[in-house]
Amino acid sequence: MTTEATSGILSSDRREDREQIIELLTKAYWMEIETVMSYITNSINPDGVRAQEIIESLKADVQEELGHAVAFGNRIKELYGVVPGSLDFAAEQSYLQPPEEQTDIVHVIKGVIAAESGAIEHYNKIIEFTEGRDPVTQDMVIAILRDEEQHRRLFEGFLREYKAEGLA
Ligand SMILES: [Fe+2]
Ligand SMILES: [Fe+2]
Repeated sequence: MTTEATSGILSSDRREDREQIIELLTKAYWMEIETVMSYITNSINPDGVRAQEIIESLKADVQEELGHAVAFGNRIKELYGVVPGSLDFAAEQSYLQPPEEQTDIVHVIKGVIAAESGAIEHYNKIIEFTEGRDPVTQDMVIAILRDEEQHRRLFEGFLREYKAEGLA
């Protein structure tokens, strides 16, 4: 009787694959955490009548992105990894810092599209790497990718409206 997994990504001879997947998942985890921070900021700061739609949308997204972070964290643990502590965090989302004017909604919309595009790019990378290696991680990331594509599409629609009026 063995206590070790003998097939699949948890088996002992798949350690190298696991480590690479954990690295990809850790980056994804931090991206989600930073997105939560940025979306909280940008769901509070904007001013103006037209800001309200963005605020409501980002408020809902905060919860969704938080759920993604937890999902990535859980998968890291399932693969025998350790979810990193806050001292390992390094911010990257320069494009989602508060604008000069809090009525500058186009700045926020473009920042959100940039964040979602970054996530979409990285998650496609994970989906490619896990192909034939780890179907469970792949399945999870495919579902998360759809959420990000929905977010991106929604904000592209917001931007379209501003573009049509010559404001973006
Ligand atoms: Fe997310
Ligand atoms: Fe998202």
